Amino acid sequence: MDIIKQLKWRYATKKFNATKKLSSEKLDIIKQAFNLTATSFGLQTIKLMVIEDQAIRESLVKSAFNQKQVVNASHLLVICIQNDISPDDINNYYKNIQGIRHTSNDILNPYREDLIKTMHNMSVAERLQWSTNQAYIALGNLMTVCAVEGIDSCPMEGFLPGDFDQILELDKRGLKSVLLLPIGYRADDDMFSGFKKVRKPLAEAVIEL
Ligand SMILES: Cc1cc2nc3c(=O)[nH]c(=O)nc-3n(C[C@H](O)[C@H](O)[C@H](O)COP(=O)(O)O)c2cc1C
Repeated sequence: MDIIKQLKWRYATKKFNATKKLSSEKLDIIKQAFNLTATSFGLQTIKLMVIEDQAIRESLVKSAFNQKQVVNASHLLVICIQNDISPDDINNYYKNIQGIRHTSNDILNPYREDLIKTMHNMSVAERLQWSTNQAYIALGNLMTVCAVEGIDSCPMEGFLPGDFDQILELDKRGLKSVLLLPIGYRADDDMFSGFKKVRKPLAEAVIEL
């Protein structure tokens, strides 16, 4: 696997082949990669919604400024964040560590209490921003995994999160949408697939001391 070759192969796909669907094996890789994304403290206050249903996607496209990737891709990924972080979330996280690693509560408790304090000291807006930062890490991770797996994708923040939240009834799940990633396979006639990559010269992008 030549990772640089794959990263040059990937591009923000504008036109997907609507007839080419991802296999369940590929989808499983995507779901696992999402769950393996590193998050700050490991708290995972993000959630992935995978939408295949065509009617649901049709109802969303207008709120994505008519960007057709939403409907023509094989699947639409919606990266969501929790609409807040409660002490229960932190307690559950530490219960999970305890269950998996069998670490004693004597060791875990100070970290658990510190994290509850850290989150408590933030405003709701700061907690939302903190979770949003984690969502972007997941987006980057998924885009790279897609490239490695030969799956096309288009990172998207060009949509109306309020509309998406309403249509997908995300509030009922305690979630807010922050990013989209339609995934699938490029259409043969997507002219963007032939465009050269536009990037700064490496020496301008990287500082070496
Ligand atoms: C966070 C983020 C949001 C983006 N939103 C959109 C979008 O709404 N629609 C779109 O067509 N492309 C979107 N893009 C794609 C960028 O325009 C594209 O990645 C950039 O021009 C570099 O081109 P490349 O990805 O093809 O190499 C987005 C990219 C990122 C990283």
